[in-house]
Amino acid sequence: MEELKKAVAKEALSFVDDDMVIGLGTGSTTAYFIKLLGELIREEELEVYGIPTSHQSRLLAIESGIPVISLDETDAIDIAVDGADEVDPNLNLIKGRGAALTMEKIIEYRAGTFIVLVDESKLVERLGEKMPVPIEVIPAAWRAIAEELEVFNAKAELRMGVKKDGPVITDNGNFILDAKFERIEDPLDMEIELNTIPGVVENGIFADIADVVLVGTRDGVKKLE
Ligand code: 5RP
Repeated sequence: MEELKKAVAKEALSFVDDDMVIGLGTGSTTAYFIKLLGELIREEELEVYGIPTSHQSRLLAIESGIPVISLDETDAIDIAVDGADEVDPNLNLIKGRGAALTMEKIIEYRAGTFIVLVDESKLVERLGEKMPVPIEVIPAAWRAIAEELEVFNAKAELRMGVKKDGPVITDNGNFILDAKFERIEDPLDMEIELNTIPGVVENGIFADIADVVLVGTRDGVKKLE
């Protein structure tokens, strides 16, 4: 599995050019890309800037020698590169296992080209088939929102930290609800609908945003677009 992640990360380097501003996603697959990008910048003396989507990616980018800037310091993001938890045949995504979905969507929505890196186990026929949809919520509203999600036939759980002694806190100081849906008929409709619930900051359905998906398979990297 790690080899497949490395292979897609390497393939994503072919989208990188001099003078680019690159959105840097979060997660184990993107971590390979960030490290490789740092090496490429050094070797080819590129002038490339990274916009990280989380504290985690920011630290890794700095460690890897990538100059980082924030969204308000640039007019345009050329490309963004990130992993995903599920990808459907129309390239709609579920993201947010790393709890960084809000900043990821802010940056990836604005990128000229959004490139997604996954291994073949992430491909599904229908979004929500395997994974819950992560929803970032204002802490005071978590229980109310969890109940309101029942209207959508979803069962939501508050995401707890690894030690189970408290909730996961996002980079924005919020909680994450993981909502398991019985069925997501229309990802774009559901994405919009969820964001109308007061107290929801953002949800992990990324409908109609991905431009290219690089899939790591045992027979090599496949490109979906
Ligand atoms: C973080 C994300 C990640 O991109 C997603 O969870 C995939 O991670 P990994 O590459 O580790 O499987 O959405 O919020």
